[in-house]
Order: sequence, then C-alpha cells, then structure tokens
Amino acid sequence: MTDEGKRKEPRKPADLQPFSPADPETRKPDRTRVVRVDPERPDPAAVAEAGAILAQGGLVAFPTETVYGLGADALNERAVKKIFEAKGRPSANPVIVHVPDAEAARRLTSRWPAEADRLTADFWPGALTLVLPKSRDVPEAVTAGGPTVAIRAPSHPVARALLDACRLPIAAPSANRSNRLSPTRAEHVVADLAGRIDLILDGGQTPGGIESTVLRLGDGPPLLLRPGLVGPAEIEARIGPIRRAFAGEPSAALPSPGMMPRHYAPRARLELMERGSAERVAELAAAGMRVGWLAFGPGAQDAAGVTRVDMPDDPATYGALLFARLHELDAASVDRIVVDSPPDDDSWLAIRDRLKRASA
Ligand code: TXA
Ligand code: MG
Repeated sequence: MTDEGKRKEPRKPADLQPFSPADPETRKPDRTRVVRVDPERPDPAAVAEAGAILAQGGLVAFPTETVYGLGADALNERAVKKIFEAKGRPSANPVIVHVPDAEAARRLTSRWPAEADRLTADFWPGALTLVLPKSRDVPEAVTAGGPTVAIRAPSHPVARALLDACRLPIAAPSANRSNRLSPTRAEHVVADLAGRIDLILDGGQTPGGIESTVLRLGDGPPLLLRPGLVGPAEIEARIGPIRRAFAGEPSAALPSPGMMPRHYAPRARLELMERGSAERVAELAAAGMRVGWLAFGPGAQDAAGVTRVDMPDDPATYGALLFARLHELDAASVDRIVVDSPPDDDSWLAIRDRLKRASA
C-alpha cells in the first residue's frame, strides 16, 4: 500500500475550491459525494452504489490505470449528454466506451478486424483504446454522430469492479473540465467537477498518469490518433506498421477531435524548452514572475521566485507524476511554467505530445 492509501478521509468538496463565478447555478455544492475506496480491493457496497447511480442515468468519476474517468451508461443517450454538460465538452468530441473485455467490445461494433483480436489479446485489459466501426446500439452522443466508436477495457480494479457491478458499457472521458489537465487524483476531479456530478470513487493516485493510446482500425492501415501508455513499437510488434496522425497540428479534418493542438493545459502559460531553460527561468524570475520549472537532467539551479521540480528520467515515472505536478503548480498560482523537453524518442512520445499540447 502506498502513502495514498493511508491518507485520511477526503475533505468534503464544498470545503475545497471556490466555485467558478462564471456559472454559479450549474454547480450544486451538496450534489457530489466523494467515497474513498481501496484501489486494489474496493468495498463492494461502495461500488454497488456507484453502479446503481450509473444504471439510473447518473454520473460517477472513477480511477482507471491511466487517469480518472467521468462515467455514464454508454447506452443511455441522456446520461451521456450529462457528461458533456458537466465537462463543458463540445458535443463534436466523441467519448471512449469502457467495457470488461473484447467480447463486450465486439457487441458495440459492426466490424471486428483481425488486428482487434491480436491487440485485445495482448493489451487488454489495459491502456489501449481501439476506434472501430460502431454498431447501431451505440448512441450518437457517444460517437459525436460519427460512424466509429472508441472502446477500451480498463485494468484498474476499481474500474473493473464498477463494470462488473453495473453490467453496462461505461462512456467515460477524462474527468476534467474540457481542455484542462486530466485528473490523476480524486482531488483534481473535485476541483473541476464538484457540484456537477453525483459521485467520485476516490482510489488515490492513478498509476499510469497519462491517457490511453488511441488507435483506429478497420479503415485502411491502422492509424495512431493519440500516443499513450502503450507505445507504437509494442503495437507494431503485434500487427505490423501503423501510421501516425497525432502531430497536434491544426487541420481541416482532424481524424480525432481530441487532437486539437491546445489540450491538456494548465492555467499558467507553459513554455517547452529544448535547451536554455535555466536562462529562461532566470529571465522570467528577474522580471518578477513566479515560475514553476519542471527540470530534467543536470544544470537546474534554484533561484528566488522559482519552484523547481526535478522530474524523473524514466518515462513511466515521469508520466505517472506529470499531471499531478502541473496541477500543483496551478494550485500554487505560478505565473509561468517552464519545462525541459524530455528526449525525442518513442519511449517519451506520449509525454512529449502532452507537453507540446499544454504549451500550444
Ligand atoms: O486513458 C484514457 O483514455 C482516459 C480514461 C478515462 O479511459 N479517457 C480519456 O478520454 O482520455 P478523453 O475523452 O479525454 O479522450 C478520448 C480521446 C479524445 O481525443 C477523443 O477525441 C478520441 O479519444 N475519440 C473518442 N472517440 C473517438 C472516435 N470515435 N474517433 C476518433 N477519436 C475518438
Ligand atoms: Mg480528456
């Protein structure tokens, strides 16, 4: 058990963040309950209650092995629409459906290519989302009216227990307000969504910290829409070459709406530096700014007005911590965040992608 598991009871959401003055009515402070669960063996009663809320068309945030998701019954169009309202998400951006296994996934699709068998056998449950031609059962709200549906089987014990309890496919984007950082702790969900959703299952820090890999199948060669915890080399070892489409550059016809260049962003402006970060940090601090610095490798120095965070030099640990560190710098109200670019190789692909978008 980590330190996370020993934390005391979470504070009530009402004690935490002031509600956004922009929309005082849409948040009802008493609406959202936070229930602490053991991330390895969640209390069946808590999970059953969460499942019942989903079955009745409510919204439940829950931990996955990547980030927290905001779940609704994927087959209930009205419930799915509530996700979009709570997040302030544009209705043109489709959401991922979470299922227990490949068999359940298949029922949501109209075609199941051979690659899907190979990939689900190797990577499910886990952080790989497959975009496939949808079946008629999948409501339009889930797919933003499009012909495909994104599906994954999560491995986190709380997510699995919830799927088991409600026996429904669960539509769940990341549990943050649209375009903000994905939540890796229940407190992040509280800060963004308290008052807008029914329940948060607090299972502590999510282990992966970066969202799933999104791969489109069944329409020409497989297309990587979003790099994530499962790397391209692992996928290619299983199904051969894949195309990459996530450059984050604006384009007239984005194959995935979540590829918008600015996404996953902290409040403070973020500058991603290939080199010269120490000088840049000093310059900003000299101009009187409070600077947060995600330092990588040697050369980092402390200076007045600078909150320096030394980031780990392996991608798994870096990824697990990244959003939590950015959330902390936001909470500390820094004026600017300077980030040393990690190496330009595939093991850092997903992290570089998120940093690039956070800086856009
Ligand atoms: O790790 C994750 O994937 C987390 C956890 C909760 O599972 N979920 C997540 O969902 O990150 P979200 O909605 O924040 O990101 C889903 C991404 C978006 O970029 C969305 O545009 C894309 O997947 N997507 C969803 N359905 C799609 C579809 N049918 N076709 C293309 N892209 C799709
Ligand atoms: Mg998201």
